[in-house]
Amino acid sequence: MEKQKILIAPSILSADFGKINEEIAAVEAHSDLVHIDVMDGHFVPNLTFGAPVVSKFKCGRPMDVHLMIENPQDFFEDFAKAIMKAHGRKDDCYITVHQETCPHLHRVIEQIKAVGCLVGVAINPATPLFTIEPFLKDCDLVLLMTVNPGFGGQGFIDSVVPKIKELRQREPKLNIAVDGGINEKTAKIAVEAGANILVAGSYIFGAEDRVKAIESLR
Ligand code: DX5
Ligand code: ZN
Repeated sequence: MEKQKILIAPSILSADFGKINEEIAAVEAHSDLVHIDVMDGHFVPNLTFGAPVVSKFKCGRPMDVHLMIENPQDFFEDFAKAIMKAHGRKDDCYITVHQETCPHLHRVIEQIKAVGCLVGVAINPATPLFTIEPFLKDCDLVLLMTVNPGFGGQGFIDSVVPKIKELRQREPKLNIAVDGGINEKTAKIAVEAGANILVAGSYIFGAEDRVKAIESLR
């Protein structure tokens, strides 16, 4: 199987929001994407921020806006505009929605493309791959949650590993991201299984030397 480059996506959920743009600047030169966790207190038991806050971020790297929200289709235009303000372009940025929040997933994928962003689809640890299988060819990225979404700092759920392997076997070129509990040890497991994008929050932002933490994941 073709070897893919490993991309690192720091999740700013574990950053200091009082100085968020300094925090982003401190890691992005060494990263490939900036992962932005949007939570609504309904789909996940936690709240973060919406598009007006995202528009104030300054991201040199492409963004992956991970929408852990119900009715994501109501917010694509706002987030696409926010991405434009934060990053200056949107065609290299992902809007990632959860399959569990999209009864009309194909329509949602088309709506994200229509606002000019790349499309990511995420599934929770308990959600089987077959729920997104008909649309894999339409996705620019599939994000496999390796924790139940909502909080940083949780433990990697090992039983997701076979799902990573199965997806990689089916789709040799797809961008497969893993999100949750990624550290030096679990990154190796996920990459060996076939993931090529590693989202990591507490491991990077909690480290004394963040650059070293990022490099240890590659
Ligand atoms: C969890 C979020 C993650 C989170 C990961 O709901 O989607 O992106 O920030 O945090 P860590 O890496 O600490 O598990
Ligand atoms: Zn995330």
